[in-house]
Amino acid sequence: TLALALTAALAYLLGSIPFGLVITRLLGLGDLRQIGSGNIGATNVLRTGNKPAALATLLLDAAKGGIAVLVARALVGEDAAQIAALFSFLGHLFPVWLGFKGGKGVATCLGTLLALAWPAGLAVCATWAATAAISRISSLSALVAAALAPVWLILFDQGEMVILGTLLAALVWLRHAANLRRLRDGTEPKIGAKKG
Ligand code: G3P
Repeated sequence: TLALALTAALAYLLGSIPFGLVITRLLGLGDLRQIGSGNIGATNVLRTGNKPAALATLLLDAAKGGIAVLVARALVGEDAAQIAALFSFLGHLFPVWLGFKGGKGVATCLGTLLALAWPAGLAVCATWAATAAISRISSLSALVAAALAPVWLILFDQGEMVILGTLLAALVWLRHAANLRRLRDGTEPKIGAKKG
């Protein structure tokens, strides 16, 4: 329907705002694409050494996904909420403004899950945090959290979200190909380390 198509388009546009790039440019922190992993996410913003900028990137990249879901749910309904989650996430991964070369979707995925089904979303965030506390590696934490997202959705009885959750998790894994190589080679940097 028209409402769902509009939801998809607007969610994509919101998701495609690359807050990491916007913030680092506004603060004159250098070209994020030339720093660390070259990614536009909070983990790479932290490699500039500016913690508030990294936190703001994390919160805004998560908020754009969460807000897309909440607005779509309020204005259209539950189907639209899921479409908003998927398309805000795809906007972050493939932003038209950056020649479709966007981010890895971790923060945006967390934001959409919190808005879609907050108990499962909190469990996924806690999985990320627990893995990060032990390993100090952002990518590994994202990979573990993504892998367990469908499990948490089932355990919290959010069965109708499992297909979407599995799709988002699979895309997060696909976007971490370079990280997976570094993890295999033992060269993946710890959180906050300057080199990526
Ligand atoms: O949010 C992406 C994170 O999991 C890895 O980021 O910069 O280390 O590739 P990065």
